[in-house]
This record gives sequence, structure tokens and C-alpha cells, in this order.
Amino acid sequence: MKSFKILTFGCQMNEHDSEKLAGILKAEGYRESERLEDAGLVLLNTCSIREKAEQKFYSALGKLRELKEQNPSMKIAVSGCIAQQEGNSVLKRAPYVDVLFGNQNIGRLPSLLEDSGQPASTEFPEGYEHAVISASRENAVTSFVNIMYGCDNFCTYCVVPFVRGRERSRRPGDIVREIEELVKSGCREVTLLGQNVNSYGPVDRHQGAGHDDAGRPVSGASEDICNFPELLKEINTIGGLCRIRFVTSHPKDLSDSLIDAMANLPKVCNAIHLPLQSASDSVLGCMNRKYTFADYMEKLNRLKASVPDLAVSTDIIAGFPGETEDDFRATLEAIEDIRYDGIFAFKYSRRPMTAALKLPGHLPEKVKDERLYKVLEVQDKIMQEKIGARVGLVEEVLVEGPDKLSRGAIHCARRLAGKTRQGKIVNFEGPPELVGQLVQIKITEGKKHSLIGVLI
Ligand code: 5AD
Ligand code: SF4
Repeated sequence: MKSFKILTFGCQMNEHDSEKLAGILKAEGYRESERLEDAGLVLLNTCSIREKAEQKFYSALGKLRELKEQNPSMKIAVSGCIAQQEGNSVLKRAPYVDVLFGNQNIGRLPSLLEDSGQPASTEFPEGYEHAVISASRENAVTSFVNIMYGCDNFCTYCVVPFVRGRERSRRPGDIVREIEELVKSGCREVTLLGQNVNSYGPVDRHQGAGHDDAGRPVSGASEDICNFPELLKEINTIGGLCRIRFVTSHPKDLSDSLIDAMANLPKVCNAIHLPLQSASDSVLGCMNRKYTFADYMEKLNRLKASVPDLAVSTDIIAGFPGETEDDFRATLEAIEDIRYDGIFAFKYSRRPMTAALKLPGHLPEKVKDERLYKVLEVQDKIMQEKIGARVGLVEEVLVEGPDKLSRGAIHCARRLAGKTRQGKIVNFEGPPELVGQLVQIKITEGKKHSLIGVLI
């Protein structure tokens, strides 16, 4: 029997694309291998957001080359953002790659595998039909659901608009149907995915997008595409669904109606990922973020006032070109002030095609490293305090499955894992029948990135 193994790099969007790729391969009669060595097809789903991600990919590819030398019948496929960005140059650098395809050609995988004479497919075709791809999801209780693809924001450091194309929103009807199907098979929580979910809306608002994801032409106002808060309202009515999350939100598009939706829709969780990137207005300007630090704070404060016990996480870039000591200090102070529940911090990384490459004032690696270290140091302390503050509380937890230690042994597992409404991981003892249910857990201890509790 044909077998495959997928190695995924990068963000949740990529994780979900890998679920779709697994769905396609299973429909083609492939079985998923546990071990890389046993797989007839190894697919690397790549990320190019930062240089480090790219290095990880090339080192994984080098290891696969050795495996292929021992087992020449093994096929290697490369998908995702590096495939999209680099195209044929990956094939030049690594001629042992059999198939290469970009983000909008996922559906072509079966034909590409058959026709190894034409190994690369990275164009941006119109009428991309993600909706018909049935994903093979690992966890039945929580699922990712794409609501839109691509990005139109062109933040000056970011490669995403170049590798994922222009912004395209899926139709609400298609999204709701997908979630209803997921609920039938046990899903209780969805995370709606998009590079900028707040700007979900009629497709023709965005340049160059004339079709929805099922290939139907979309002409705008007369079509049924609503805005993001309205979409949340619709998803909130789906029976059997308990929780709705979404990533990522751009601060510039965080509207009053979204704040109202988060405050009033019972299934929408009290958590938001709101990337700040920097607290210096001059750096934000150079990043083309289209908000000032004061705008960000004003929106965040309104959101916090409307949504009780809101968890807020963010992204920070340390050492953006031209960032002065004062700029950086402003960011550190903001982090101390806002007290985020989580931060994804990165040092600035040069990306091909992006406008920031040409900005003056690129900083030495050492300065970027030092600044990144300071952000992580400050945040570590805050996170420990925030986790510690949950001890003693009773939290509603959606049980997702056995905890990491007992995974693979669901029937005898006593230790379970789930998440609070804020999105914090909780481990506790309980019977496996609780998987998929909402339970009340008294929090007894805080770990580095998770909580321990007892079932009430
Ligand atoms: N360098 C560093 N961080 C980056 N990000 C995106 N591009 C870069 C880059 N070139 C970060 C941003 C973004 C997150 C997904 O990745 O913080 O919000
Ligand atoms: Fe990149 Fe900015 Fe788009 Fe986010 S909003 S994907 S950071 S260009």
C-alpha cells in the first residue's frame, strides 16, 4: 500500500493545509506512516516567514536526501510558502525533489504525483477550490476552519502577501456547512483561520479577486458575503458547537461591531491574538502597520472593558531596521504595561521581495539578539504571574483528549488535557469518556506554559 508522511513547518495555516494534504492522500489510497523511514512519499510543507524557518527546511531536506540514497523509490514532495516563493530554484538546489507545488495548488497533488515529468506547480490560478478539499484532522474535538486566504496589507517585513496571494474570503454558507459537518463528527470548538480575519468580507473589496473558493464568480454587494462580526453571529447559532476562536486579528481592522460580537456572542471565547509588533509610532510607520500605539491601546482598552477576563496575546518584532534604543524601550514598557498572556517574539529577519529590505538602519545580529532576549525575559516573568493568578479559580475546560504523556493510549488514559475559555492548557485526571465535553476544573497549580487542576 502507498504510504506518506508529512512534515509541517510554520503557522496554523500550514498545519491546516497539511490536514488537507493528508485528506487528499488518504482519498487517493495512501496510508499515513508513523515513521519517516517507512514512508513511500515524504511531503515537506514549508514556511518562509523568517530565515530560521527556511534553514530548518533545508536541513530537513538534507536529511531526506540521505534517506533517499538508501531507499531510491522514496518520493520527496515540497509544498507551502518556500515552494511558492522559490519555485524552480528549490529543484535546482535539490534535484532529488520529485514534486513541488505552491499554496494554491494543493488540489493538484494527485496529478503532480502521477506526472513526475512536470514537477513544479506554483502559479496563482483563479477560482481556487479549497472548499472541496476534505481535511484529515488529527483532533476531532477542536478544528481549524479557513474563512479567508491571502493578505493585502503588505507590512514591509512580511512575505505572506507574496506567497499566499491577495485576500479572498470564503462564502459564509460554505463555512457554516463545513462547521456543521465537523460538529456531526464530534467537533466542539472551531478556530477560524485567516491572515487578517477582521477584514473578512465581500471578495470584490479586494483587488484581483473575482472568484470565491469554489470557483464561482463573485460580484460583491449582491452576493451573500457578510462581514466578520456577522459571520461570527451566524456560526454562533450552530447547534452542538461550544466555542469559537479566531486568528489572526489586525489591530487596524478591529471594529466596534467586532467588540460587540465578542462581548455578546456566548460561544466566542474571551481571547484575542492582537499583534502589536512595536510600540514606537515611527517603527510602526516604517512597518506600514497603519495604526499608532495610541490607536492600539484605545482599541485594546475598549475590548478589555467589554469582554470580561480577556486573554490577550501578541507578536513582537525586535530589531526592525531603524529601531532606536528609545523605540525598543517603548516596546518593552508597553509589554510590561499590557501584561500579555502570551507573546510570540522574533528578531527581524530579511525576507525576499519585502519593502523593508531597502529601509535604512539594518541592525547587527547581536543587537537584534539582545533585544529579543530582553523581550523574552520580561515576558517570561509576566507569564508566570499570569499563570499563577489562575490557581484557585474554577475554569470551564473543553476536554480535547489524553494529555501528552498518555497519548496513544486513550482507553487506559486517566490524565486528560483541555483548554480554558482563555485558551490556556489544563491537565487533570479523569475518565476518557469526558473527551469532547465541557467540565469544571479547579486549578491547583501553574506550570511554565500550562495549568494543573482537579475535576469538580
Ligand atoms: N522578521 C521577523 N518577524 C516576522 N514576522 C513576519 N515577518 C517577519 C520578519 N521578516 C512575524 C510578525 C508576524 C508573525 C506571524 O511573524 O510578528 O505577526
Ligand atoms: Fe504579514 Fe502584515 Fe499580512 Fe500579517 S497583516 S500576514 S504581518 S502582511
